[in-house]
Amino acid sequence: MEIILAKSAGFCFGVNRAIEAVNDAIGTDDIYTYGPIIHNKTVTESLEKRGVKCIENIDDIKRGTIVLRSHGVGKDIYSEIEKKGLKIIDGTCPFVKKIHDIVNEKYNKGYKIIIIGDKSHPEVMGINGWCQNSAFIAKTVEEAEKFETEKDAKYCIVVQTTFRKSLFDEIVDTLKNKGIEPEIYNTICSATSTRQKEAVEISSIVDKMIVIGDKKSSNTQKLYEICRKNCKNTINIETISDLMLNIFDKNDKIGITAGASTPPAIIKEVIGTMSEALNDAVKNSNEDGELSFQQLLDEHLVTLHTGDIVTGTVIQISNEEVSVNLGYKSDGIITRNEYSSDVNALPSKELKVGDKIEVFVVRVNDGDGNVLLSRKRIESMKGFDDIQKAYDEKTPVEGKVTEVVKGGIIAVVNGVRVFIPSSQVSNRFVDDLNVFKGQTITFNIIELDKSKRRIIGGRKALIEKEAQAKKEAVFATLEVGKKVKGTVSRITDFGAFVNLGGIDGLIHISEMSWGRITNPREILKEGDEVEVVVLDINEEKGKISLSLKNVTPNPWLSAAEKYPVGSIVEGKVVRMVPFGAFVELEPGVDGLVHISQIANKHVVKPEDELKIGEVIKVKVLEVNTEAKKISLSKKEADGVEAPAEETPAEEAPAE
Ligand code: F3S
Repeated sequence: MEIILAKSAGFCFGVNRAIEAVNDAIGTDDIYTYGPIIHNKTVTESLEKRGVKCIENIDDIKRGTIVLRSHGVGKDIYSEIEKKGLKIIDGTCPFVKKIHDIVNEKYNKGYKIIIIGDKSHPEVMGINGWCQNSAFIAKTVEEAEKFETEKDAKYCIVVQTTFRKSLFDEIVDTLKNKGIEPEIYNTICSATSTRQKEAVEISSIVDKMIVIGDKKSSNTQKLYEICRKNCKNTINIETISDLMLNIFDKNDKIGITAGASTPPAIIKEVIGTMSEALNDAVKNSNEDGELSFQQLLDEHLVTLHTGDIVTGTVIQISNEEVSVNLGYKSDGIITRNEYSSDVNALPSKELKVGDKIEVFVVRVNDGDGNVLLSRKRIESMKGFDDIQKAYDEKTPVEGKVTEVVKGGIIAVVNGVRVFIPSSQVSNRFVDDLNVFKGQTITFNIIELDKSKRRIIGGRKALIEKEAQAKKEAVFATLEVGKKVKGTVSRITDFGAFVNLGGIDGLIHISEMSWGRITNPREILKEGDEVEVVVLDINEEKGKISLSLKNVTPNPWLSAAEKYPVGSIVEGKVVRMVPFGAFVELEPGVDGLVHISQIANKHVVKPEDELKIGEVIKVKVLEVNTEAKKISLSKKEADGVEAPAEETPAEEAPAE
């Protein structure tokens, strides 16, 4: 068996250039192609999997980069793209561009434009767009016959790059016979004629001819027609899967060519598979000489290309790499680095042997014969779409904080790393960002530059918004006089702040107890659950005044009843002053034992007779609930008669 491959098979210069332009653009922005970049399903599907979308109408997109294919477009399309502020990567083949320039120049000089070619072909439509779509277009002699001349008109003829030269000549002659003297530009690309010439040569000397290329591609179909004229055993296949090996004989001489849109990888695959399968078949032929092509073909059917996204089965897991069976001749390897964007993710914890996973083919052969795979890139591709959507629609995303870095934290959202600067982590200063490590947090995407792969998240506004909503909800339930529960969030010298479930209220020190206190910390500590009474609400200023003491009744209201004049009661010495000692009868109710009422002798200082904290018996001499004053006597309670000069309670300083 002999295989002859046409040197000119496959991508021409222009198509190669456009494909490279798309590949280079991937990952820099949202990439769109204006129409399919080439007429090859395998290529367009692979690009689609990598995020490149094909559009037919500029109005279908609002932002991003448009790659123009090698066929080129009309002038109006450029203006439309520019008007919309979209970026252009011009993949127009320079040979086609040259035709645009000729048409544009001649049209502006008043020439009538004639295009020889197929008016429904995008290249011809694009050329026509450089003379305000005014060209006369003919692809057959019959169509050219219909041409009507205009008096004194000047004519310019150009031709579709892939047009057959002989037919072009015939059409030109037909037009000239109409009495015109046109300026003729033979713009047929030599890539096409070279490929066609070679196809003629090869197809004339082989037993079977294979034309590889998309069935919708016009240049592939032309090649097929040319070859079939010379070799009736010509077949057109799009990929290796279309190839029926059982039509070949081991002694066949086989010719192969490919259309301008056929990627080199597909051509290589066809040749490789045919050579291997046929050689194996020769070795494995049974006694009757029947060849086991089908089994052998099956072995070669799984094909891989860099950039493919495929599903495989996990066959081995360690924390350094995961082996994946792809049905390909070699197994795929996902290294730890390509496993996940979460640096803490462990394959052994997340996967088990037998799991089906989607992977991205980084390299078909890593040098050791393994297929290098990435799971991280799949995460990242999907994650990017989600992030873009969240950014466009201003909706929050959820991400797990994986690292604390200089100036902020990294949160991973569906495999994409998002940097959240420390100023955006919270609405309050956070001393140690490590508290967030491992937490799943919700935040907004506040900046997104796909080309620089710069994604910045922010939580501040979100937290403030949530806090505001909580505040409003709390305010809606509060009423002056209502008892509410909360948690002491902060204590200062003048009072304690209580978190009521979204907003803090303040208990001023004077509202803490009916008794006397000098520091709020005497009765409260942070974290205490308390019940308080709402004293005042100022929604505008966001202030709520609370009272702790009002939760219990004012003890002075019942003091006269509980401590009738003349009764003997117990109390605790709580404070000394030069003129006496204050004795607490119950929290919030203190009475004064004047220095003269301490003992039946001359007392110089109360401290000489009493100690702070001492519990003593006292007799109630007078109760003034309005002034919150009670006069007490220790010496009378001790059974000693009162001295003659008694100091009235009113003279004691107010508490
Ligand atoms: Fe350009 Fe010729 Fe190819 S015109 S696109 S190099 S066939």
